[in-house]
Amino acid sequence: MTLVINRRPANGDNVRAITFDRQGPATEVLRLAEQAPPAAPRAGQVVVRVLSRPIHPGDLVGVEGLSGVPRQRHSFPVSPGLEGMGVIEAAGEGSDALRPGQRVAFFPVPGSWSELVTVPAEFAVPVPAGVRDETAALMLVNPLTLLILMRAVEQAVAESAGGPVVQTAAGSTIGKLVSSAAKRHGLPLINLVRSDAGARALQDRFPDHPAISTADPGWRTQVREAAGHRGVPVVLDAVGGSLTRDLTSLMADGGTLIVYGMLGSGSTALESLALTPRELTVQGVSVSRWLSRTPGQRAEDVSFAASLAETDPDLFEVAGSYDLADYAAAIAHARRPGKTGTVLLASPAP
Ligand SMILES: NC(=O)c1ccc[n+]([C@@H]2O[C@H](COP(=O)([O-])OP(=O)(O)OC[C@H]3O[C@@H](n4cnc5c(N)ncnc54)[C@H](OP(=O)(O)O)[C@@H]3O)[C@@H](O)[C@H]2O)c1
Repeated sequence: MTLVINRRPANGDNVRAITFDRQGPATEVLRLAEQAPPAAPRAGQVVVRVLSRPIHPGDLVGVEGLSGVPRQRHSFPVSPGLEGMGVIEAAGEGSDALRPGQRVAFFPVPGSWSELVTVPAEFAVPVPAGVRDETAALMLVNPLTLLILMRAVEQAVAESAGGPVVQTAAGSTIGKLVSSAAKRHGLPLINLVRSDAGARALQDRFPDHPAISTADPGWRTQVREAAGHRGVPVVLDAVGGSLTRDLTSLMADGGTLIVYGMLGSGSTALESLALTPRELTVQGVSVSRWLSRTPGQRAEDVSFAASLAETDPDLFEVAGSYDLADYAAAIAHARRPGKTGTVLLASPAP
């Protein structure tokens, strides 16, 4: 028999949310607002009081827009964020495995930068007992992205003549997840970062993978040496921009450039890459594709994410945690060169 727990969330008081009314520079367009709490959850939904949520680079792209991507058509105001963790405040019919008071992580749920969100039960993941709230707030997006990236890498490596994979922005949270997965799977990996200090830190943390700084004028030669003077079959790139030309110059003919971020500046003309004579593949990868996996596959992926949070909490490093009201300082921290880990926005339960 289905137990129905269907009460209004909280006490009907307004809740805080970061919102924006138009796309533009984050610190100009975002504001702290008060909004009405969501309606009582319908069947298959829960309402979650969000305690903590990350500031992902992609969240800021959602606020600011991205060159070459049409402006998003929202019905404003909109609250950013797709991921977070909190406590179930109310559960609709059919959400049998989820109970008020239970800690859950969730993704993808638009508007996680508000204090209360309505979450489809299928996207609410119970947080394992030993996992801290701050770790749980980061438990889904990055591990799920890792799985999607590693599937793309493994396929591209399988179709190549072999050799090490190169990844850029290797000191990022995703980069460290990739380094750790490469170690587990015995995948040869060369890590690229943009500073000498970053290369030293990464080399200490992952001694199996050579870490090279693109600030060193000899970095291309160092990559060629680390790759055994062979072209690199696969590059995993979150930087793009003007770095793309250098990266493809290091690749073997027939190689694959997997692009999953645009942290860099400048641009590289597609025509300058000799894609056709060199038979290079450029492949974009996005975690939004994760939703196209079957429910069974998604359950396996989520279970991987939750167990990684239990066994390797160091891979879910928190750079700092700020109250929602301090979102401007939090965003400045999230964008600070050399920061390690992810910045969180917190909203303690009243
Ligand atoms: N495609 C997808 O579905 C998907 C999903 C999740 C994340 N991502 C992307 O993955 C990337 C990493 O995300 P994250 O959350 O792991 O990042 P993060 O932990 O915030 O770290 C950002 C990293 O990027 C480096 N960086 C910033 N600007 C750079 C530049 N211009 N050139 C070289 N390196 C630069 C920083 O290096 P320093 O240490 O030197 O400051 C830092 O190590 C982002 O591009 C993000 O958008 C994509």
